[in-house]
Amino acid sequence: MLKANDIGYWYDRQENSLFEHVNLEFKSGNSYAIVGQSGSGKTTFLSLLAGLDKPRAGQIELNGEPINQLGLTKYRQSHVAIVFQSYNLFTYMSPLNNLLTAMAVTGSSHRGDKQFAMSMLSKLGITDDQMTKNVQKLSGGQQQRVAIARTMVCDAKIVVADEPTGNLDEENTKYVIEQFQKIAHDQHKCVIIVTHEPDVAAACDHAYRLAKHKFTALCQMVLKDSFYPLEISSCGRSFLFFY
Ligand SMILES: Nc1ncnc2c1ncn2[C@@H]1O[C@H](COP(=O)(O)OP(=O)(O)O)[C@@H](O)[C@H]1O
Ligand SMILES: [Mg+2]
Repeated sequence: MLKANDIGYWYDRQENSLFEHVNLEFKSGNSYAIVGQSGSGKTTFLSLLAGLDKPRAGQIELNGEPINQLGLTKYRQSHVAIVFQSYNLFTYMSPLNNLLTAMAVTGSSHRGDKQFAMSMLSKLGITDDQMTKNVQKLSGGQQQRVAIARTMVCDAKIVVADEPTGNLDEENTKYVIEQFQKIAHDQHKCVIIVTHEPDVAAACDHAYRLAKHKFTALCQMVLKDSFYPLEISSCGRSFLFFY
């Protein structure tokens, strides 16, 4: 559904390009992890997929149509939901009002449906009492769950997340990863997560590593009862971990 078509990007000069000739396809009903060292360009790439910035070369296509032809504002409003490391909720509102506002702004098919918003918050372990409190009264893990519930009440079929578990403890990380998988598999959305955490990458259906200006597919391999993303070329031959 979402395609990176020969994408290249640089900030100042082309010779300093972060990545070039990137061809990747992201399908609905699947989750994708993008890993790579800090500064390799993961956030930049995600911002191109989210229509927050334009590639210097190539184009991003949604179901065959270049997103800049569709209009980046319309694309962001109707097709993409973003989860940030720092949650990016309206801090002066309750979790429930955060969801209702997002539903109204994006023209969700559920807009105005308070029961639906509450049921999604409840699915993510937010109690009735917490739903109507100011979001700042919630813990970081709870706030990130609200941010994820927000993507579930909007119709956007593409969910991108930049280091969504970066500020979370182990328990919340596990919970949040599970929810992202459910969004992909149960809601049939396309989930793309930038992460530096192997466990997060391993839980996704597909993983890519951005290194040396290129994306390499990793394969999910069982190692000591756990899944670890490995270079496709090394699957079955060596146990080269991606860091
Ligand atoms: N707005 C900007 N202007 C110039 N350089 C930038 C800008 N944003 C990021 N960079 C640089 O681009 C590189 C990639 O950044 P980023 O996409 O944030 O990487 P990552 O998310 O993998 O850590 C870094 O070297 C960073 O300093
Ligand atoms: Mg980043």
